[in-house]
Amino acid sequence: MTTWTEQQHFLNEDHHNIFEKTKDIPGWQEPGDSYKLYEMGYRSGDVILEIGTYGGRSAVVELEGALANPDRSIKPQYFGIDLDINGVLRTADTLEKFNLTDYCLLFHGTLNSFAKEFSIQPTMVFVDADHRYEGVKSDLLLLKDYLVAGTPILCHDYANPENETGEMGVRQAVNEFIREGYAEFVGTFGCSAFLLTTNQCGGVARPRLSEQEFAGCKADVLSKIGQSTYKRNTALDSSKPSNPKPDAAIGQDLQQVKTELEQAQFRIQQVKTELEQAQSRIQAMESSKFWKIRLAWFKVKKMFGVLEKNKNGFIK
Ligand SMILES: C[S@@+](CC[C@H](N)C(=O)[O-])C[C@H]1O[C@@H](n2cnc3c(N)ncnc32)[C@H](O)[C@@H]1O
Repeated sequence: MTTWTEQQHFLNEDHHNIFEKTKDIPGWQEPGDSYKLYEMGYRSGDVILEIGTYGGRSAVVELEGALANPDRSIKPQYFGIDLDINGVLRTADTLEKFNLTDYCLLFHGTLNSFAKEFSIQPTMVFVDADHRYEGVKSDLLLLKDYLVAGTPILCHDYANPENETGEMGVRQAVNEFIREGYAEFVGTFGCSAFLLTTNQCGGVARPRLSEQEFAGCKADVLSKIGQSTYKRNTALDSSKPSNPKPDAAIGQDLQQVKTELEQAQFRIQQVKTELEQAQSRIQAMESSKFWKIRLAWFKVKKMFGVLEKNKNGFIK
């Protein structure tokens, strides 16, 4: 069984260098956050769940840790969730640059929507999404039904001073989670709280997804999000040579334009969906009793020749 301590020890040279190696990826990590995430990945990184990926900085740290453990005989599976499509796209780009795409499934949405689609058994969790009290509380309450006892959770920004001003509610939500008996507090690392779940959590141990199942889930997620959005970022076929680097001849500007184009395509798709929803709402309104009575009223008025128009030209 893994012994987690309040002191941070370095497992290897790579662990020592991980902050330096990842510090230029967009994101907000203190050295202590990165060191703990690497250690979590190393020791418990079979099935990594991260809520809030932003630019993939923590994802790289966790996966580098998981891949560095010589005793790990299976490929780590990383599940990253972000509510913002730009967060998903940025993370996909970063993972590609670090040749890590093959291990990753990126989900556009919340933990709530993710949990409705996937029954995974995370072996470690990084909570770094909505930092308001209600957001963290809701993520932790969902996690308690998901996780088995002894699962390490790192909650980012627990030690951030903005918890005192009310800007953030991480500390309050985490402290309540501990008080309610779902986790034990091990210590703070960087600005994160490190917890271990207790047997009050209701997760049921289940086997990891097979490589085929994992690839299948990735394909499902991709088809939902719209393949054109980030097909270049996510290898569907694991037999493909993993993550070829972008052609050196393609300049950074061109890459940027491509990303923006893909984001715009995704937004157009979103607007189309919203338009369809609005149209079906109008149809539902028109078939409602009120609408039918209104039309009948106009007919009666027309019969008696009293139909008038308002100043905008609409029939009153
Ligand atoms: C602080 S950033 C994550 C940084 C990343 N973990 C790292 O260390 O590199 C927070 C991310 O959470 C996402 N987010 C905010 N609310 C969310 C929610 N309810 N569910 C999922 N993601 C959310 C934001 O879009 C943002 O990308």
